[in-house]
Amino acid sequence: MSDEARVLSERDGAVLTLTINRPKALNALDAATMRALLDAMQTVAATPEIHCVILTGAGEKAFVAGADIAAMVDLGSWEARSFTELGHALGDAMEALAVPIIAAVNGFALGGGCELAVACDFIYAARTAKFGQPEVNLGLIPGFGGTQRLPRRIGVARARELVYTGELINADEALRIGLVNRVLEPAELLPRAQAAAALIASKPPLAIADAKRALRRSEELSLRAGNELESQLFAGLFATADRKEGMQAFLQKRPPKFQGR
Ligand code: CAA
Repeated sequence: MSDEARVLSERDGAVLTLTINRPKALNALDAATMRALLDAMQTVAATPEIHCVILTGAGEKAFVAGADIAAMVDLGSWEARSFTELGHALGDAMEALAVPIIAAVNGFALGGGCELAVACDFIYAARTAKFGQPEVNLGLIPGFGGTQRLPRRIGVARARELVYTGELINADEALRIGLVNRVLEPAELLPRAQAAAALIASKPPLAIADAKRALRRSEELSLRAGNELESQLFAGLFATADRKEGMQAFLQKRPPKFQGR
């Protein structure tokens, strides 16, 4: 299977939908699929007309059922290190994008799949989705950020419970613990993600990019350092044409016309 086919890409105006496309393997992440996703992130970074991304999985059963166990079964520690680093490079590339990524979780999001969803800006889930970090059942720990990004998102005690027990949770429980933002009927998942993406895409992209950067850094900076960064970014936006347009449009009681400058 070619790299292109592993990730389907569909543009609708300023919104790009990426669909992980290995439904027979429940969209499990092997190295080729992760490289295809990395390529897609590079394309997004190089295409200023794209203002928001949706990430979902092909088929009705899975978003991503984890890292590809068949591809990992014969790995030694050296190759396993490259594999986990590839997963981290992908998560880092997703977070480094100037545009938000919405995970539309349409089914199982397990192991590397849950970690991939958590590397997105926020998650919408189908009512039928299931989340979990079952790596312990394979004699492993999470390898794509489940011990680092997940506790920052849902708190360390909840992450411990998921990682130590390997148990799966349903979408309502994922909502309750703050892992997902919304639970939707399966038929409503993509339309609602697209509506949110279109709304985000209509906003001034420089403000969204700075908001993404500041919010991402909030997970690792002290309050003082984070507020310092926020002040720098806030002040910098005063030099943009879109900031002037947004304020003038408000005062003139008309809709703004943003230009991305
Ligand atoms: N890797 C490779 N193949 C996988 C897979 C995975 N993570 N998950 C599912 N598949 C494959 C199955 O082998 C099966 O293939 P065949 O039809 O060729 O036999 C196909 O997808 C359908 O899966 P099932 O028949 O198992 O479907 P099910 O409905 O009975 O069960 C499931 C669904 C509960 C998700 C089950 O497939 C499952 O438990 N999958 C593994 C989940 C897992 O352990 N994920 C963590 C992986 S490790 C990891 O991700 C490490 C990390 O952090 C980086």
